[in-house]
Amino acid sequence: MFDDIREAILAGQLSPGTRLPPTRELARELSIARNTVLYAYERLTDEGYTHTHGGSGTYVGDTAPDPALLARIADPGRAGEPALPADQSRLSLRARELLASVGASDLQVGAFVPGIPDVSQFPRGVWQRLITKVWKTASQEQLGYGSRHGHPPLKRALTEYLSLARGVDCSPEQIIVTQGSHQAIDLCARLLADPGELVWVEDPCYWGARSVFRSAGLRMDGIAVDEHGIRPPVAPESAPRLIFVTPSHQYPSGVVMSLARRRLLTELAHRHNAWIIEDDYDSEFRYQGAPLPSLQGLDPHRNTIYVGSFSKVLYPGLRLAFLIVPPELVDAFSVAQSELHRGGQLSVQAALAEFISDGHYAAHVRRMRKIYGERQMLLIDELQRQLGDEVAIVGTDTGLHLSVILRHANDQLVSRFALAHGIVARPLSSYFADSLQAQNGLVLGYGGVADAEIAPAVGKLARAIELVKGS
Ligand SMILES: Cc1ncc(COP(=O)(O)O)c(C=O)c1O
Repeated sequence: MFDDIREAILAGQLSPGTRLPPTRELARELSIARNTVLYAYERLTDEGYTHTHGGSGTYVGDTAPDPALLARIADPGRAGEPALPADQSRLSLRARELLASVGASDLQVGAFVPGIPDVSQFPRGVWQRLITKVWKTASQEQLGYGSRHGHPPLKRALTEYLSLARGVDCSPEQIIVTQGSHQAIDLCARLLADPGELVWVEDPCYWGARSVFRSAGLRMDGIAVDEHGIRPPVAPESAPRLIFVTPSHQYPSGVVMSLARRRLLTELAHRHNAWIIEDDYDSEFRYQGAPLPSLQGLDPHRNTIYVGSFSKVLYPGLRLAFLIVPPELVDAFSVAQSELHRGGQLSVQAALAEFISDGHYAAHVRRMRKIYGERQMLLIDELQRQLGDEVAIVGTDTGLHLSVILRHANDQLVSRFALAHGIVARPLSSYFADSLQAQNGLVLGYGGVADAEIAPAVGKLARAIELVKGS
C-alpha cells in the first residue's frame, strides 16, 4: 500500500494538497486491517510524502523526498544498500552484474546489523600505547610497502596463537596478510581458478564471497546446507575448482559443520583436485560445546586455504585479515599480492604482533565471549517473551548473530517494515541462490547492540511482524 500511494504521488496522480481517504474507510473498502493502512500512512509521513493537519487527515505534501531514501526503497530486500547509478551503459558487464545484487549495507550500526562487534569494549588504552611505542622507533622499512606480505613478528605470533586456539597447522611463512577477508578470497579466486570455472558456495551463502567470485568471472553452484553444514554431492555433474565454506559458523544460518562432514569435504576436494577456502571469520566466540579444529588443520591432503580476519575480534575498520596457504602456493600468493594490492600497514601489524604475544588478544577474546554470550541470552529471552511461537531461533552455538525462522510472516516484508522503524533485520531468504530451498527468516546480529537497546528493538520487530501478518 505504501508503494502504491508513493508511486501515485511521484507520478503526479495524487497532487500536493490532496487529502488521502480516512484510514478506517480505506481499510473497509480494501478489506484489510486498519493497522496496515495506519502503518502505510505513518511511513508516508515519516518519509516526507504526506503531512497531517492535527486530527483532520493526511495530505499529500509538496516537498520531494530524499533521493537516498528513494533508492533504498527501490529494492526493499536489502537493508540500506547504496543507490545504483541511473545510467549503467558505460559500465562493464561484470560491474553491472555486481551492482545488480549488492549485499553491503550503508547502515553499519545498531540493531540488528550482522557481523558488527562491540567496538566500545575494545581496549583502546593498550592499543594506543602499543601504536605509540611502535611509532617511536618505526624504521623506514616499517613505513614502506614491506615484502613477503606480513610483518614477520605478527606471522610468528599468529602461528602460535592459531595452532593453540584453532588447531591450524602452518609455519609463519605460509601466512599472507591482506586488507580484509574479501581481498583474501579475491586472491584465491584469481590465482586458483580461471573465468568460467566452477566454485561451490554454500546455499545460503555470505553475500561478500558471492560478489568476489562473481566479479572474478567464476561460475557458482549453491550447495545446500543442512544441520551438519554443507552437503556436497558425492558424484557431481561437474567438479569444482574451488569450494568456499564457513565451517565454524555457517553464514548466515549459524550451523557448525560436523566432524564427519569436514572429513567428507576434504576427501571430495582431494578427489576433484579442488581447493577449499575456509572462511573462519568469527570462530572465537563459541558459547556451547568445545570448538572443532579448523578444516585446515584436519585436511590430510593440504588442499585447504584458511582465511582469518581481525574484524570481529578487534574492529572492522582495521582492515586486516590473512590467508594461510600451503607451502607450494606461498610464492605465487606473495608475488600476486604485491602486484595487485601492494603491502603496507606494517606499523599497525607490529603493534598487533605485540598485542597478541603479550596476551591482550586472548584476554580480549575471553572477555568478549562472556559479554556476547550474555547478550545473546538477552536477545533470546526477549525474542521468546515478545514473539513466542512466531519464531524458531537457530544458530546460537557461536558467533555474533543468530537467525530466526518466521512461522507466519514473509521475511522480505518484515525486513522492509522493520527498516522503516530503524531496525535492520536482513531477510534470510535473500541469502539463498535456490529460491525453492530459501528459508523464511531473519538474520539478527547482536554483537554491536547495547544491552539496553535489545528489548525496544525486539519490540519494533514484533510490531513489524504483527503488521505483516495482519496485511
Ligand atoms: C562470513 C564472513 N566472512 C568475512 C567477513 C568480512 O571480514 P573482513 O572484515 O575481514 O573483510 C564477514 C563480515 O561480516 C563475514 O560475515
